[in-house]
Amino acid sequence: MQGTPGRTPMPNTRLLVLFGSQTGTAEDVSERLSREARRRELGCRVQALDSYPVVNLINEPLVIFVCATTGQGEPPDNMKNFWRFIFRRNLPSTSLCRMDFAVLGLGDSSYAKFNFVAKKLHRRLLQLGGSALLPVCLGDDQHELGPDATIDPWLHDLWEKVLGPHPLPLDLGLTPPGIPWPSKFTLKFLQEVPSTCSEELRVAGTDPQGPPSELQPFLAPMVTNQRVTGPSHFQDVRLIEFDITGSGVSFVAGDVVLMQPENTASHVQQFCQVLGLDPDQHFTLQPREPGVSCPARLPQPCSIQRLVSQYLDVASVPRRSFFELLACLSRHELEREKLLEFSSAQGQEELREYCTRPRRTVLEVLCDFPHTAGAIPPDYLLDLIPLIRPRVFSIASSLRALPSRLQVLVAVVRYQTRLKEPRRGLCSNWLASLDPGQGPVRVPLWVRSGGLTFPKTPDTPVIMVGPGTGVAPFRAAIQERVAQGETGNVLFFGCRQRDQDFYWEAEWKELQARGCLTLVTAFSREQEQKVYVQHRLRELGPLVWGLLDLRGAHFYLAGNAKYMPADVSDALTSIFQEEGGLSGPAAAAYLARLQRTLRFQTETWA
Ligand code: 2AM
Repeated sequence: MQGTPGRTPMPNTRLLVLFGSQTGTAEDVSERLSREARRRELGCRVQALDSYPVVNLINEPLVIFVCATTGQGEPPDNMKNFWRFIFRRNLPSTSLCRMDFAVLGLGDSSYAKFNFVAKKLHRRLLQLGGSALLPVCLGDDQHELGPDATIDPWLHDLWEKVLGPHPLPLDLGLTPPGIPWPSKFTLKFLQEVPSTCSEELRVAGTDPQGPPSELQPFLAPMVTNQRVTGPSHFQDVRLIEFDITGSGVSFVAGDVVLMQPENTASHVQQFCQVLGLDPDQHFTLQPREPGVSCPARLPQPCSIQRLVSQYLDVASVPRRSFFELLACLSRHELEREKLLEFSSAQGQEELREYCTRPRRTVLEVLCDFPHTAGAIPPDYLLDLIPLIRPRVFSIASSLRALPSRLQVLVAVVRYQTRLKEPRRGLCSNWLASLDPGQGPVRVPLWVRSGGLTFPKTPDTPVIMVGPGTGVAPFRAAIQERVAQGETGNVLFFGCRQRDQDFYWEAEWKELQARGCLTLVTAFSREQEQKVYVQHRLRELGPLVWGLLDLRGAHFYLAGNAKYMPADVSDALTSIFQEEGGLSGPAAAAYLARLQRTLRFQTETWA
């Protein structure tokens, strides 16, 4: 690091930043915190909450928690284990009495449970004896200047508190902005292509060390990839089937599958071109600092081709920190000036206009700054570009009905912004492009339990509300329950038109004829007025109330419409009032009780 002359570093200051991130924003903010700490010569480690051994917290003097809140007030996936642990009843109230902490929350104030996770964590850490350096920071996506509007002043206060006992001399201290901080890794090119190159992932089923996981995914053969929406439907939705014979992959209804997508060949080629990289060149990667590890699964040595196609998320929308680092690395005056502007507090509105709103990608930005891109030192590639994250899909089939098979229903994400090229979701478009009819296709995948659990007791009826692709986990549940002879299945399904996006119509009809399913449909675009699942729920209020109140039914909701979950909850509370004679507050309490006892469960996505 560019040391600051005249100042003794504080080697003993052990700042730990722990994050819970769903879409990567909390991770990005954590990296920013770490860079700011290093510019102040503070030692800093950054880790995802679930990869940190939580019992060690008792020995940590200073911890910053950066936590997102997802959809309905839930913690992100990579802090779910931590969340369960920290709320254990038997933790002594002095557990964290040596810890100073601060919580930075990221949320969206258009949701009812705004920054719920950060607020709840802050309270819990106080209960466990921790000392709060600052009030919780409530970052808000809805703020007209973005979350940084709240985060920037909070960070300013944070550094004052942290450095309070060790203030920086006025004229010294910060590594000036514009000087790059050291890269996390050193990347060494090899002169020759190595003869033994472990470039292939394993085909699982041969490994005795348990089921496939993120570290060792199963390369699942794709069996079918079929469009299930009609030709005039706006969206291409695929039913994709994998063969999981001999893989060790096992799942029950409600579980999810994770897949590791790849960049398109043309993006890889374009990226290598603009950065002046040779795709066939091989390299090895070494962490520069203790506590930093190389990306899991990255083979060593590895080719540039593989690094770019399977690891670097060049199709993601870059964040402010990307521009910050790029500005530091730029040697081209005009480009550097623009990049510095994008990374400054004043330039954030312009950055949103240029990048965030139109969803411009890392690759497109690099093409806009060709002199800078062409001179990026390869050591910085992994600091600059986030890793491709695995994508999660609800499993849509049951092993009881379709042994050795795993199906998913995938909406291919494609939309237009003001940019000429349409925006494309990385994973769904990659999956859609794979054609098992043209030769063998394999997809790295693994499974884990999802947010939904179905009743173990036979005879407990279930009511499932799944408009659009939200029906996927209920397809698995219905298959599983019917295979076990359970007939109390009520499905509310909503789509636009029955001849365009009515998934599994024939299967539902057959089950209905056999008396295993009650199907209620809402076709939103077959008449003047929109008809949605919540309208059907209200119409069938007596049935819904009877099943819930008299028969102890469980109620499930899944889907991706932003307003749908709240609309369905409103419909339910109206039913409780009309059919159950409850007052408004009593109906809300009834719903809250269903939620608490896991008889009302939701799985929603943006
Ligand atoms: P729409 O697209 O015609 O508005 C699956 O996407 C179905 O969910 C579609 O019929 C869609 O209708 C509907 N949908 C959209 N917003 C909804 C909401 N707030 N509540 C329930 N269904 C909704």
